[in-house]
Amino acid sequence: MSSFWSAWVIILTAITFVLTAWLLLANRKTLNAGKTTGHSHDGIEEYDNPLPQWWLILFWGTIVFGIGYLIAFPGMGNFPGVLGWTSVGQYEEEMAAAEARYAPLYAQYSDTPVEQLYQNDEAMKMAQRIFGNNCSQCHGSDARGAFGFPNLVDDDWNWGGTPDAIRTTIVNGRNGIMTPWGPILSNDQVDQVVAYVQQISGQGHNAQLAQAGQAVFMSYCAACHGPDATGIDALGSVNLTDDIWLYGPEEQWIRQAVILGRNNQMPAWGQFLSDDKIHLLTAYVYGLSKDG
Ligand code: HEC
Ligand code: HEC
Repeated sequence: MSSFWSAWVIILTAITFVLTAWLLLANRKTLNAGKTTGHSHDGIEEYDNPLPQWWLILFWGTIVFGIGYLIAFPGMGNFPGVLGWTSVGQYEEEMAAAEARYAPLYAQYSDTPVEQLYQNDEAMKMAQRIFGNNCSQCHGSDARGAFGFPNLVDDDWNWGGTPDAIRTTIVNGRNGIMTPWGPILSNDQVDQVVAYVQQISGQGHNAQLAQAGQAVFMSYCAACHGPDATGIDALGSVNLTDDIWLYGPEEQWIRQAVILGRNNQMPAWGQFLSDDKIHLLTAYVYGLSKDG
């Protein structure tokens, strides 16, 4: 706030205090105590008495409280208050207190290997809450994913399903990049390779196109998806031979991937979540495909 507006707020507030005090003092006494004002409404008359004592005391109390509050806490323009309180400071203190309180809860599992931890119901209840707070907005609260967001419940992994691979995914994030082939392939080649993908994923396809598509696939796609098209974990490329799709089995999505490519981002959590929380999440995600 500029110093002009700061001074504006301070002066207006001070004037309000002075005026209210003056008003109270001015009405402290009346010359006509015990007499009526002379007004009469349907026979009901009005005394001209001073304000009741208890009410005045309360009013003075609120003025004293108001002044004390504005000295202690921020409120008078840019004046920060003598206590140094800020909402950010309070938030950080509460977060630190929560961290100190809950950290031991998470830490108790840090030595349990992922392969055992996922069977611990108590730990997995905790992990489910961490998942709900941080992961469900993209992967769904049931972790079954959505268009472009992988299903974590099945046993099909684009980046690998070992505890180490899952931990790496969570800590560093992942960026699945498929280069666009529209500018490079002819329209015929696109038709052919799309038919080939339909064939190897067990869908209806044009056999003649698919046959020609195999050569296109080997030249342009096998480097990332593997010659057998089952995907390469290190590149995050998907298995094209199964019935599990990140986008969809329909021809339009296969064609779109080929022509426009894909660029998909899983955010990194290493900076936001403690190691112990990530350990719990790793076990949770690992366990999802085991139970389901
Ligand atoms: C902003 C959306 C978003 C959030 C939030 C998110 N993810 Fe992801 N996640 C993705 C996307 C997109 C991918 C696919 C990345 C790719 O393959 O290019 C992915 C991939 C993954 C994978 C790899 C799956 C595979 O098949 O290899 C795992 C595991 C995963 N996420 C776990 C998590 C966990 C645990 C959290 C919570 C800490 C989380 N994700 C939060 C978007 C998100
Ligand atoms: C540079 C590596 C790379 C190349 C080359 C590549 N892809 Fe991909 N492809 C990927 C990655 C990575 C993904 C996953 C993208 C994501 O996470 O969104 C993918 C996804 C796909 C999908 C989406 C599958 C689904 O589950 O919805 C299709 C279809 C596909 N690729 C087909 C092809 C075809 C056909 C070619 C050859 C013309 C090809 N790709 C070449 C890396 C590649």
